Amino acid sequence: MPKWLDNAVFYEIYPQSFQDTNADGIGDFQGIIRRLDYIRELGCNAIWINPCFLSPFGDAGYDVADYDTVAPRYGTNEDLKQLFAEAHSRGIHVLLDLVPGHTSVEHKWFLESMKAEKNQYTDRYIWTDNVWEAPENMGCLRGISPRDGAVALNFFSMQPALNYGYYKITRPWQQSPEDEGPRATLNAMLDVIRFWLSMGCDGFRVDMAGSLVKNDEEGKGTIALWQKVRTFLDREFPEAAFVSEWGEPDKSLQGGFHMDFLLHFGPSRYNDLFRCEHPFFSSEGRGDVSAFVKKYRENYDKSEKKGLICIPSGNHDMDRLARLLSPDEMKLAFGFLLSMPGAPFIYYGDEIGMRYVEGLSSVEGGYNRTGSRSPMQWDNTANAGFSSAPAEKLYIKMDDAPDRPTVEAQLTAENSLYHEVKKLIAIRQAHPALQSRGEIEFVHAEENAYPLAYLRSADSERILIIVNPASRAESFESVLPEGELLYSCGAPAKKEGSAWMVPPCSVSFIKL
Ligand code: GLC
Ligand code: CA
Repeated sequence: MPKWLDNAVFYEIYPQSFQDTNADGIGDFQGIIRRLDYIRELGCNAIWINPCFLSPFGDAGYDVADYDTVAPRYGTNEDLKQLFAEAHSRGIHVLLDLVPGHTSVEHKWFLESMKAEKNQYTDRYIWTDNVWEAPENMGCLRGISPRDGAVALNFFSMQPALNYGYYKITRPWQQSPEDEGPRATLNAMLDVIRFWLSMGCDGFRVDMAGSLVKNDEEGKGTIALWQKVRTFLDREFPEAAFVSEWGEPDKSLQGGFHMDFLLHFGPSRYNDLFRCEHPFFSSEGRGDVSAFVKKYRENYDKSEKKGLICIPSGNHDMDRLARLLSPDEMKLAFGFLLSMPGAPFIYYGDEIGMRYVEGLSSVEGGYNRTGSRSPMQWDNTANAGFSSAPAEKLYIKMDDAPDRPTVEAQLTAENSLYHEVKKLIAIRQAHPALQSRGEIEFVHAEENAYPLAYLRSADSERILIIVNPASRAESFESVLPEGELLYSCGAPAKKEGSAWMVPPCSVSFIKL
């Protein structure tokens, strides 16, 4: 595993909405470059940029039309190369977003594969062998080309599925991952990876990574495929880092990913924390963290520490943390996020508690996700410093609430969420026990109960974390001794006799 992941704290940038520098209302690479110092100052040492390649933008760029060329609205390949260099000079690593499962219908591979005559792209996508037959359990497009067949869809209707083969073959047109077509698809994707890594990128976040091989319920075919990618990486790019959008670390990490996300979908129970009817981090104190912890432990054991389990603050697909939590509740949420193993991922703007913007119409296939993708709020100038374009030209409408949080206001307010997040990152970075590979042992995580307590350790360093989001005092019995308070938000927890007394709405880090 690349050494730099040991202490990585990531910042996710949705490039459309971060910083516009040429007044077209849409963020760009020069804008990201301009804000690298801000990211570094916050304490993050790595970024992940959502897809920034040529695309008709039916799904915000997750419909790639050319993997090797960036979308002109963000700049040129040279600008992106400059971004890599500027980031590196500040000690920041850069992940791009690889979308290996599908392309846009405008991709030249797809245009070729629609032709009736056989050519080198005929087997690049999953096609049935006659237009009347649809692929099982998947959407499809048919009647769109002279080719006699239906093509499988991976996501939206303009995202045909690339062909990596079927694990169990039940129809004559289905191919094995070892067949020529699927092998060529994988090789083409390795070329894309090689292209960007050679240009200075440090790795990839991989879109829908668990979905590549079809008819593969237990993921065995897809795991085998990613193991090949890992062998390639270990050989050619041992410092490159790969994080999967999979949500099942027991599978993805066996497949050779260095990291996997827990997500709003899949079996991880991630939603129990921040995004459900009674989130654990709400001060109403009606949440239940036990199922999450049980699942986490299972994943932790099954993945045999082969890689990292990453818990994001949010992302471009889910509701903003602030939709359900208040700024004070978010401070405690960050106390948790920044003291768990794995590399933390902060979604742009979450560090200032940017809100989900209600009532927006869909932009670029965002639908309900659009409200989490609004422009970054920097300061009090026009369009909150995001862009000097007229407001109606902005990619997505700004949050126009008069009390919307901004970086500028939070920098001046001592007790802001921004300062809490910054402090937490600094503490993490000063203590190996709190970093990616420090061990975790849960101390208190009972059903329908508060607080959550866990012990992090590395070598001889041991740090006890006690998180009580509920607005009532709690306590729990434990043999762990009193220690030195490293950090608290709210009043610190204290040991009295054999019990830890935990104040309402608090998180404490205690060095044992
Ligand atoms: C992933 C992306 C999402 C996209 C989808 C299809 O879930 O995060 O934004 O729409 O894949 O590529
Ligand atoms: Ca721009």
